[in-house]
Amino acid sequence: MAESMQGLKRTHRCAEVSEANIGSNVTLMGWTAKRRNLGSLIFVDLRDRSGIIQIVFDENDIGTEGFAKAGTIRNEFVLAVCGRVEKRGGAVNEKLATGTIEVRATTLRILSEAATPPFPIEEDLSTREELRLKYRFLDLRRPDLQRNLMVKSRVATLSRNFMAEQGFLEIETPMLAKSTPEGARDYLVPSRIYPGSFFALPQSPQLFKQLLMVSGYDRYFQIARCFRDEDLRADRQPEFTQMDMELSFVDIDEVLEVNEKLLKHLWKEILNIDIETPFRRMTWEEAMNRFGSDKPDLRFGMELTDVSSVVADCGFGVFSGAVASGGTVRGINVKGQAGMPRKKIDSLTEFVKGYGLKGLAYLSVQEDGSYKSSFAKFMTNEELDALAEKMQAEKGDLLLFAADQKKLALETMGALRCELARRLELIDKNRFEFLWVVEFPQFEWSEEEQRYTAMHHPFTMPMEEDLPYLDTDLSKVRAKAYDIVLNGCEIGGGSVRIHQNDIQEKMFECLGFTKEQAQEQFSFLLEAFKYGVPPHAGLAYGLDRLVMLMLGLDSIRDVIAFPKVKDSSCLMTQAPSRVDPKQLEELGICIREEEEQ
Ligand code: AMO
Ligand code: AMP
Repeated sequence: MAESMQGLKRTHRCAEVSEANIGSNVTLMGWTAKRRNLGSLIFVDLRDRSGIIQIVFDENDIGTEGFAKAGTIRNEFVLAVCGRVEKRGGAVNEKLATGTIEVRATTLRILSEAATPPFPIEEDLSTREELRLKYRFLDLRRPDLQRNLMVKSRVATLSRNFMAEQGFLEIETPMLAKSTPEGARDYLVPSRIYPGSFFALPQSPQLFKQLLMVSGYDRYFQIARCFRDEDLRADRQPEFTQMDMELSFVDIDEVLEVNEKLLKHLWKEILNIDIETPFRRMTWEEAMNRFGSDKPDLRFGMELTDVSSVVADCGFGVFSGAVASGGTVRGINVKGQAGMPRKKIDSLTEFVKGYGLKGLAYLSVQEDGSYKSSFAKFMTNEELDALAEKMQAEKGDLLLFAADQKKLALETMGALRCELARRLELIDKNRFEFLWVVEFPQFEWSEEEQRYTAMHHPFTMPMEEDLPYLDTDLSKVRAKAYDIVLNGCEIGGGSVRIHQNDIQEKMFECLGFTKEQAQEQFSFLLEAFKYGVPPHAGLAYGLDRLVMLMLGLDSIRDVIAFPKVKDSSCLMTQAPSRVDPKQLEELGICIREEEEQ
């Protein structure tokens, strides 16, 4: 029978007990991680969120009745134990912080019994993730997940305190909101009072935080839940948390500065690492050209080289043809990999084909200075030499080339660069390379919609010198937008906002909104802007991503207590689920018959 607390009070968490406590009495509570019954002695590893400590049950200390009770303990039973801390009688356990001590129990209460868990509760478990997510409450008992969530909690607390010191106010914004166009699909919430009308869960607090600037709050901060109905990836969830901020009377530099300070503070406090500030800054254009990515991983080299001018007139049609049709040829020099077997090169070719490239051309410089290549027969020796020189190739190097339209060639080679770094293990996992990517294009052409869309969002200010292009060539407009990139992952982004009504209206027009549509969707913003708007700018981090990278993890699910899986469902609660027809009726919602079947 489960016993209760009745007068017992915990004195320490398990791993808080140390050699300093030897000789004194402690009261500990936790779960049974392991138990060994040696007949005359019973050992239990007791676990709580701080760690594990060894408990020894000896009939001489705890009496006959207590010892018999200890004999019934099974894994995951919840125990309260009072006892004396002693130096370990047996071998020291190097793996435990409490490995040199143990507690000799004098009192035992079984606070709860436990069924056998469907998987062992231990670190670095290889159990299928689906099973772990179904029993997430047990998975969350594991030390690695507990550590992740504890770090996340500390990041939130440290950030709150830091931002408060910097003069930011924490202000909540609504969860039941109006749809804001930020690129993803909205999660809709039906209104009962207005059947047929819907709230949208916020994709971000963007418009509200801008309105708070209009209202004079000056510096706003919020740890805000955001919702986006998009396809999931390893670093994406349909609901995630932003550390969101907005500042009045500032330009780009002040936003970047306060954020560098914040990140420096977090890395120092949590990892005891001094990161160097200010961070490097790179324009979007440079990032794309050198790394084929708007979030380059700077922990390794292998930059892209534009060889278009060298191969424009060469005899290899794939290259010269691409240049002739307005495309480009980009190469990567993979140092010392001239001996890469054909099979591996073929698998890299398959990799780039996955991105839509038609092939991958290679040229390797052998130790005797000769070339091995998939296209050498189409080119003269002079042409090959010129190409190798442009690539700064040395003996033993492998050169890989992509020829296509610029966007595809760059993005594919950018992805290949990262894939090569992974395969060749060139990535130093202990490094943190921060980078600001700035001067993003304001607009992005959408093939699907056949119109320009906002690359960041419609409230981002164009660079002043590019304003004239709003009337002539949208592809030339650069935005006052910035992303903070860490180790090849976008951990945050933001921009200086438009605070002039005429530019905002112009922006909606460029994005293809009619005056009426803009009014209908954003009347409150346009209205607010009539009454005195300070210049303002802001930024939001993906808190989950930030913590994931800080801890060197690969999956965002490892820093979220109750994450969703690929199809955006929750394996534990089985959400989303059917609802009672009465609920639907109240909301004026009727499910189409064919979908019912
Ligand atoms: P943005 O859309 O870039 O900007 O989002 C900010 C940061 O949030 C994180 N993020 C996500 N994390 C997990 N799962 C997702 N589905 C997901 N989507 C985004 C990313 C990203 O950098 N309102 C603007 C910010 C601003 O301009 O101030 C915004 O939401 O790390
Ligand atoms: P092919 O003439 O199609 O046999 O191609 C000769 C070589 O060029 C092969 O190694 C192909 O993988 C490579 N190749 C084909 N298309 C491209 C491309 N768009 N970019 C780079 N290499 C390519």
